Amino acid sequence: MKIAVFVSGRGSNLQAIINSDELRNLIEIKAVISDKTDCPAFKIARSHSIPTYSIGSPRSGNSPKQDKETGISFSELSTLLIQFNVELIVLAGFLKLIPDYIINQYKFRIINIHPALLPSFGGKGMYGLSVHKAVFDSSAKVSGPTVHFVDETFDTGKIIAQKCVDISDVSSPEEIAERVLKLEHEILPFVIKKFAEGKITIEGKRVVVL
Ligand code: GRF
Repeated sequence: MKIAVFVSGRGSNLQAIINSDELRNLIEIKAVISDKTDCPAFKIARSHSIPTYSIGSPRSGNSPKQDKETGISFSELSTLLIQFNVELIVLAGFLKLIPDYIINQYKFRIINIHPALLPSFGGKGMYGLSVHKAVFDSSAKVSGPTVHFVDETFDTGKIIAQKCVDISDVSSPEEIAERVLKLEHEILPFVIKKFAEGKITIEGKRVVVL
């Protein structure tokens, strides 16, 4: 299965996908896309000879010239994804909203990893440490990553898989982030594998992982 991974920074989830023994013969990463002009995740991609692309413009309003100066536009990206025969888009830290036409083009074939248990602690502005801070401040006793389908708004698509970790004894948001990240690196490759095997189906309102 050919996939594209959308990142923004560190790239530890990208690394987990690349490192996964179970995925090695199942997937091929055709491109890594970021909303930044450069980021550590790009270095990881390049060291594995995976092409990298930056999204250089907002969804509308910028001239094509500006797109060229700073990266590719979403419409150029959409063409690229088709040329590469990408079958699954994996968002791992990507911060821009995906335009509707790409969502429609990839209906139920775009997944995102969120570092908290949705539908709580999601939505606009809920990324990075602010998620873990909100979880910490709420005094929640469990947290964990959610992998979900991407729809037109932030963090509202149907949930595919989640994992829980006890956080009753933590003393900082950073400690929650560390525990959750460990689980992210397990759950994301797991879901991608299930996808590649055709073991994710939608039955009525529920996503079933076989
Ligand atoms: C992860 O915590 C992921 O859940 C969130 O953004 C972060 C990306 O981390 N959506 P990394 O770049 O994969 O290390």
